[in-house]
Amino acid sequence: MSEVDSVVIDQLGYLGFEVADVAAWEKFATEVLGLVAVDRRDDGGFSLRMDGHRRRFVITPGKADDLSIIGWQVRDEVMLAKVASKLGAAGVEVVESSAERAAERFVGKMIELRDPAGLPLEIFCGPALAETPFASPVVRSGYVADELGLGHLVISSGDFEKTRAFYCDLLGFRLSDRIVADVHGFKADLSFFHTNGRHHSLAFGGPQRKRLHHFLVEARSMDEVGLAFDRALGGGARIMQTLGRHPNDRMFSFYAKTPSGFQFEFGWGGRHVDDATWEPTTYDTISEWGHHPPQFLTPGK
Ligand SMILES: [Fe+2]
Repeated sequence: MSEVDSVVIDQLGYLGFEVADVAAWEKFATEVLGLVAVDRRDDGGFSLRMDGHRRRFVITPGKADDLSIIGWQVRDEVMLAKVASKLGAAGVEVVESSAERAAERFVGKMIELRDPAGLPLEIFCGPALAETPFASPVVRSGYVADELGLGHLVISSGDFEKTRAFYCDLLGFRLSDRIVADVHGFKADLSFFHTNGRHHSLAFGGPQRKRLHHFLVEARSMDEVGLAFDRALGGGARIMQTLGRHPNDRMFSFYAKTPSGFQFEFGWGGRHVDDATWEPTTYDTISEWGHHPPQFLTPGK
């Protein structure tokens, strides 16, 4: 690929969720995930901070109870123009957002489009940064975010090759690895993709009930995972997978349900990828240990 053709997404910039119970989301996001609510809006919606960015999650009231925006950040307007022209040349319908719409999102410039499964994407440059350093009263050591992006997400997808071509050939994602495994009686075939040093910012492997299976936030210390697990067990969120470690990104994590029904992964210790030396592999298990369904939490079963 020549330099002229090369398109690079820097990071997962923000996620939007349309949620039925805004109050439950605020309680969950601040008390369980430890994010900080900011920019409250007249419609009852609000945003959430996790690092030096002004906001990383946009919570909007609505019936969908699902992912409503995936925001991918590029380095500048030159790269944004390059991305738009590459997508346009491939026949993807791209809308250049108005200045008002970009300002609403607290970004400099933005384009809007849909991925092959119809998921709404916003690709932008120039995110607003926060005026104060980030501090969470709950997750005191903070999150691994900033230049690595907010975390990762596992999205619903259709035709694998179409989706791979869209994200890799048009948006520059690189394959990290693949997991083909039996997971609690279901055959999983997931592919993981990176766009910076984080092992994966994106993964997919077929359709999901909602637009996303889960999103991940990664804390800076292992104890934060245990503390978050305790908060979930204490009634903050329904555990879906117990503590465990994935073989590919080495993430030590657990999974639980958000108030909208899709899941989150709360983790620590994710490995980094160096494109100069990285060789994609295929794993035959989704977890080295743990990540059991919640009935394993009941003694004697
Ligand atoms: Fe994950």
